[in-house]
Amino acid sequence: MKFIKTDSYAKLSRIAANIIFAQIINKPDCVLGLATGSSPVGTYKELIELYKNGDLDFSKVKSINLDEYAGLDGANDQSYRYFMNKNLFESVNIDINNTYVPNGKAADLEAEGKAYDQRIVDFGGIDLQLLGIGLDGHIGFNEPDCCFTKETHVVELDESTIKANARFFESEADVPRKAITMGMGGIMSAKKILLIANGANKKEILEKAFYGPITPEVPASILQLHSDVTVIYSEN
Ligand code: GLP
Repeated sequence: MKFIKTDSYAKLSRIAANIIFAQIINKPDCVLGLATGSSPVGTYKELIELYKNGDLDFSKVKSINLDEYAGLDGANDQSYRYFMNKNLFESVNIDINNTYVPNGKAADLEAEGKAYDQRIVDFGGIDLQLLGIGLDGHIGFNEPDCCFTKETHVVELDESTIKANARFFESEADVPRKAITMGMGGIMSAKKILLIANGANKKEILEKAFYGPITPEVPASILQLHSDVTVIYSEN
């Protein structure tokens, strides 16, 4: 594991964007696993700048996102599909048909999960998976549990996750209680993992995840078993 500590969110975002930049330069038709939440917003802004400067071409890139709230469709401004469109896809030359976010409105979310995993297989795997980390150690929406779940699946969100994510909604009551998330199989199958964490409140969970025991009670701890993980952390 490579651990990069920076002293600002701006630097964290630049370094993360540079790693993604290198991935696209090395393999223009790569598969990027993308994440939502507040942490990647700066990284996406940097990628948009690189694109606008003519340094980056997304035309052959495919992307697959980690998760989506159950019950929200892509037009809903709280959905992760909407987030991705607004924060990245609409500002670069990626083919929107090559971008995938689980369909939170699917009538059969289990079937949606199976199709999602099949898509990852059909892609030939994810080249680079970007991750944030929740305060309870969740990655994607893989919440602390008694076991690691391999497949893309439906989850009940933890109270702490609902509280943490309420800042993006009008009220806590509006936060969906369920979500569909890529499982640990999809995440761990990525060739490279890039996890970004910003803020002093993430320090304790990072320590647990990367220096504590590997346990489904701290979902991100499974990343200790991956051979190519870069963590970028800024306390400020
Ligand atoms: C959500 C997302 C996660 C993300 C987490 C942390 O729960 N499902 O993928 O890592 O939030 O978000 P933030 O970066 O805003 O702290």
